[in-house]
Amino acid sequence: MPTPDYDPKEVAALQADQLAAAVAAGIAASDAAADLDALAQAHTAHLGGRSPIALARRELGSLPPQARADAGRRVNEALTALQAAYDERRVTLDRQRDDAMLREETVDVTLAWDRQPRGARHPLSLVLERVADVFVAMGWEVAEGPEAEAEWLNFDALNIPAHHPAREEQDTLWLEPPTAGVVLRTHTSPVQIRALLQRGAPCYVVVPGRVYRNDPLDATHSPIFHQVEGLAVDEGLSMADLRGTLDLFAAEMFGPDVRTRLRPDHFPFTEPSAEVDLLCWVCHGRSAQRDEPPCRTCGSEGWIEWGGCGMVHPVVLSSAGVDPDRYSGFAFGMGLERTLMSRHDLSDIRDLVEGDVRVTLALGVEG
Ligand code: PHE
Repeated sequence: MPTPDYDPKEVAALQADQLAAAVAAGIAASDAAADLDALAQAHTAHLGGRSPIALARRELGSLPPQARADAGRRVNEALTALQAAYDERRVTLDRQRDDAMLREETVDVTLAWDRQPRGARHPLSLVLERVADVFVAMGWEVAEGPEAEAEWLNFDALNIPAHHPAREEQDTLWLEPPTAGVVLRTHTSPVQIRALLQRGAPCYVVVPGRVYRNDPLDATHSPIFHQVEGLAVDEGLSMADLRGTLDLFAAEMFGPDVRTRLRPDHFPFTEPSAEVDLLCWVCHGRSAQRDEPPCRTCGSEGWIEWGGCGMVHPVVLSSAGVDPDRYSGFAFGMGLERTLMSRHDLSDIRDLVEGDVRVTLALGVEG
């Protein structure tokens, strides 16, 4: 009961029923808090600096000493009850949050991880890199040139003058306007000229690259394919150096047992010129003999055509500013699709250009 010594209105917060109501409201708010945020709000409202219980504590000071102890005990009891309700709810909600986190962040180690099939590098990219590695290991450099090439470099500088049948034979694709003299290069040989103009002699370069011909896509032709060109120019190089280089290249590509042969041929930019053949690795040449079973891989020829080669024509050395009296050189060029097709017994070039992932996986995984 209020005493006449203090204003009962001011200390209303200390009255037993007021305290009981504050405690009941605080406990109800804590219990009702659905999550930790709601509980924090209940804490502010019922235990914070401006809560009824805080107000009651502050008012203790205005009580006469004889009333203070009793009121203080009651306020403390109320505070303890409120704090206990808050603590209890806090433990429950903390545990709920931890449980939910454990559940949601669980990693199911039994889930399948390989439903997305693994890819592989394309066999052509691998073979291009392999070729570059073989020659870099011998101290050669890798050279590149543009795919849209000057007509002069693709033909004239290579001793293929206007109206030479080779221009038609190579089914050239011209860029517009035709008077600009720019073609999609029909072979990697123009890079021979670029390399010599840039580096001078001596010069040892290998040139992997994409080339274009005006051929429809069918089982054995593709308008876009890849060649690898080799060029060595130095003092005293001979046909024997060409042979030795080709034999080493073939052994690196097809294994130590491979055998090569040179067959006379003609290219305007080499003299003499030859075709390089590989002894068929399936029948070892036997199918070409009488009374032997036919061979699918070499068409019973016994040999498989690999590419062209020859000693660089003096006219070509001159067009690239190299003195043909002092230097000589050899060059070769192979189609990479053909190489891959014979190596893997593919009968359709489209398997290599259409990007069927089964082909890539079957041929492209091994380095
Ligand atoms: N450039 C020739 C072709 O595309 C191949 C070749 C290259 C021949 C180098 C001889 C020397 O058919």
